[in-house]
Amino acid sequence: MTQILDGKALAQKIQADLTQQIQSLAPAVGRPPGLAVIMVGNNPASAAYVRGKERACDRIGMASFGQHLPEDVPYFRISGLIQELNRDERVDGILVQLPLPDPLDAVALLNEIDPDKDADGLHPVNMGRLMRGEAGLRSCTPAGVMQMLSAYGLDPAGKRAVILGRSILVGKPMALMLLEADATVTIAHSRTPDLAALTREADILVAAVGRPAMVTAEMVKPGSIVIDVGINRVDLPEGKTQLVGDVDFAAVAPVAGAITPVPGGVGAMTVAMLLHNTVLSYCRRVQDNR
Ligand SMILES: NC(=O)c1ccc[n+]([C@@H]2O[C@H](COP(=O)([O-])OP(=O)(O)OC[C@H]3O[C@@H](n4cnc5c(N)ncnc54)[C@H](OP(=O)(O)O)[C@@H]3O)[C@@H](O)[C@H]2O)c1
Repeated sequence: MTQILDGKALAQKIQADLTQQIQSLAPAVGRPPGLAVIMVGNNPASAAYVRGKERACDRIGMASFGQHLPEDVPYFRISGLIQELNRDERVDGILVQLPLPDPLDAVALLNEIDPDKDADGLHPVNMGRLMRGEAGLRSCTPAGVMQMLSAYGLDPAGKRAVILGRSILVGKPMALMLLEADATVTIAHSRTPDLAALTREADILVAAVGRPAMVTAEMVKPGSIVIDVGINRVDLPEGKTQLVGDVDFAAVAPVAGAITPVPGGVGAMTVAMLLHNTVLSYCRRVQDNR
């Protein structure tokens, strides 16, 4: 029987645990944890993500400080806002919703966030901490994958892991986290020849490419763990659309030992890890102030 790794249920459990943690800490601290979300412009997908994050904050008793700026806001205004939020004692996590409109330099702005308030875990200092195996805020999507593996008792130690995709958002930090968990890791990308030969060797296969159904049953080792990070919107007849992953779920599920669905898999975990990072930063800051 293939195990379906239910990210939605696990994310709900993590959020319930965070709610309890906040309820027990906030009265003594005198405030709940706070997350500031900076959104620039009116990209509808970004707006939906931001609303989802703010609703999640409300649900677990976390304060959210939405900062919605116009499309043509100059760089120095956003930079100034980040500096303010870095100093704001009520704020434990800051994130800039990506993508930003042209010509704003997202990398430069992310670098201005205090690394200890870097809720997305994308700051070079946190990436460096991950690289060195030190404690720090971990990037949310790969951290969500690690939480799922752990919650289902799937230990990467000694396993052969293959990651499709080498982005700074998913592929690279995913590789480092699996390496930290003692897997033997290979990263593949668009210039990797004979992908199928490689993926068939994987005990853990992580797909983070952004191409619908590119991972077929023939590419998967029987009994392996298949993690689908991809989120792709595909057109259906009659003008409808559907969210699908990078894995051909119907064909691969019977071959795999465990698999994440899309939706309801890794995507559901990403917001939970964002909240987790913010609570972690809150706990550290509260401790430091004692
Ligand atoms: N579940 C979540 O919460 C979550 C979070 C973030 C992203 N995502 C989704 O995950 C997917 C990847 O996101 P991303 O930000 O990492 O994307 P990205 O920055 O576009 O990176 C895609 C990676 O896939 C590689 N690639 C492209 N075509 C390939 C092929 N034919 N064979 C092998 N590798 C190939 C690219 O290789 P090169 O480097 O050689 O170009 C690149 O490294 C997207 O669908 C995105 O929506 C989901």
